[in-house]
Amino acid sequence: MKIIVTGGAGFIGSNFVYHMLEKHPDYKIICLDNLTYAGNLHTLEEAMKNPNFKFVKGDISERDCVFKLFEDEKPDVVVNFAAESHVDRSIEDPGIFLNTNIIGTQVMMDACRKYGIKRYHQVSTDEVYGDLPLDRLDLMFTEDTPIHTSSPYSASKAGADLLVMAYYRTFGLPVTISRCSNNYGPYHFPEKLIPLIITRALDNQNLPVYGTGANVRDWLYVGDHCSAIDLVIHKGRVGETYNIGGHNERTNLEVVKAVLHELGKPESLITYVTDRPGHDRRYAIDPAKIEKELGWQPTYNFEQGIKVTVKWYLENKGWWEKIISGEYQNYYDKMYTNR
Ligand code: NAD
Ligand code: DAU
Repeated sequence: MKIIVTGGAGFIGSNFVYHMLEKHPDYKIICLDNLTYAGNLHTLEEAMKNPNFKFVKGDISERDCVFKLFEDEKPDVVVNFAAESHVDRSIEDPGIFLNTNIIGTQVMMDACRKYGIKRYHQVSTDEVYGDLPLDRLDLMFTEDTPIHTSSPYSASKAGADLLVMAYYRTFGLPVTISRCSNNYGPYHFPEKLIPLIITRALDNQNLPVYGTGANVRDWLYVGDHCSAIDLVIHKGRVGETYNIGGHNERTNLEVVKAVLHELGKPESLITYVTDRPGHDRRYAIDPAKIEKELGWQPTYNFEQGIKVTVKWYLENKGWWEKIISGEYQNYYDKMYTNR
């Protein structure tokens, strides 16, 4: 089996590369990634030593590059992780989100149509369902929840999902979609809440919490997301969407406090800053379909996952210190100074 993993130099894609190389040592994994600010070749250093892994630098929205890769490699399966993924950046500059997340998806599927494929898997997000009220804990997102987006990021992911289903119905492309809740774990870029809090708290810097910190996210350890996608590409039904989540809802304030507790740092580092425009209130995934149909179960609850994650950041300072000492500092100043 030969699998193209797009976005494999990013957070979840790289964890998926390592998952697949370990679980399926006979598979060939090709990572297609154009190394944006979020892509990092250091993350793939160990994978590069494996003869069954190959890295190709290229943009999923560039037709010539993608078609040449398919011509050369004739993959069996494509798993499309490549995306602009940060909501705050999509509020600053939506254009690149539409190009990568929608046009990139179209180009990848056009190549799949031309060269034939056993499965095209689209890695989507629970954000396409919009948000839930904070006072209705009985409500969760199912696969039948209508799409109702809030940010340019989620709108671009929803646009891609609609296109994927259109290619299934119109052209019979064998597709699946997964929609996962918030991930955390190793190789998470420190613009996102959990790694931002860990890396700043270690340096005793203030920790920016948007609004009152009451917004709720449903956290899943990244390895559990990878095992779910592995199941979907092997056993999921073509044309179906699978929600992925582990019932780990926490307010942002609870998350920040849990990290501080794990690090032994004081809560006085918490600083409330101006809220994110259009900030989604609550996400909560109902994973009943993937649990019943494919037998998927997460292996980490939030407390276990946070312990493992904090440990990883403590043991891999070299990985994130390189990031925050570079261009990232300008990003942080632009987004947070005087907020
Ligand atoms: P990330 O930002 O860490 O990584 C994205 C990767 O895609 C990077 O390596 C980047 O270089 C690459 N990339 C970006 N544009 C590209 C292009 N035009 N061509 C080729 N490569 C390109 O993102 P992530 O957090 O790992 O998310 C991966 C996927 O999972 C995304 O599709 C995202 O929407 C989805 N998702 C993320 C989460 C989460 O909590 N992070 C949850 C659910 C779904
Ligand atoms: O739900 C899945 C989504 O989760 C993915 O589709 C996105 O790619 C991923 O980035 C993530 O989106 P969020 O916006 O939920 O993640 P983020 O880490 O940016 O923020 C998590 C929560 O923390 C959110 O309510 C905003 C808040 N926050 C975030 C940052 C960066 C803060 O309070 N302070 C911060 O500095």
